Amino acid sequence: MTQVAWNDGLKLGLGFQDADHEESVGLMNAMQTCSDAELPALFVQHQTHLREHLARENELMERIGFFAIEVHRGEHERILAEQDTILTKLTAGDLAAVRQYVQEDLPAWFLGHLQSMDAMTALFAQQRGER
Ligand SMILES: [Fe+2]
Ligand SMILES: [Fe+2]
Repeated sequence: MTQVAWNDGLKLGLGFQDADHEESVGLMNAMQTCSDAELPALFVQHQTHLREHLARENELMERIGFFAIEVHRGEHERILAEQDTILTKLTAGDLAAVRQYVQEDLPAWFLGHLQSMDAMTALFAQQRGER
């Protein structure tokens, strides 16, 4: 299982982004340890949070004119489409697929995305006075 422990090393220095990421880690960890009965509601709660978070990052990138906005925004669209696919499996009762996703694929994506596209965006934003 890929489990993310929130720590200062994951902070990128932008207030809203760090707060959102911390919330995401909390919800991901809850999904990894919850009962089958609790999983659907938690999955939807995290999905809603993620959609709102990614919209906030997209808005930031537009505002500051981030040079790689197309790539970063495109990755946001890809993960949201992936989430819809998993939700379809959840609705169909394929809990094994959803467990696999929340235990491995989602946290692995989260860490990789945070340390690459999000980190680059945060650095660029801070150079333009964002905090
Ligand atoms: Fe992010
Ligand atoms: Fe992002």
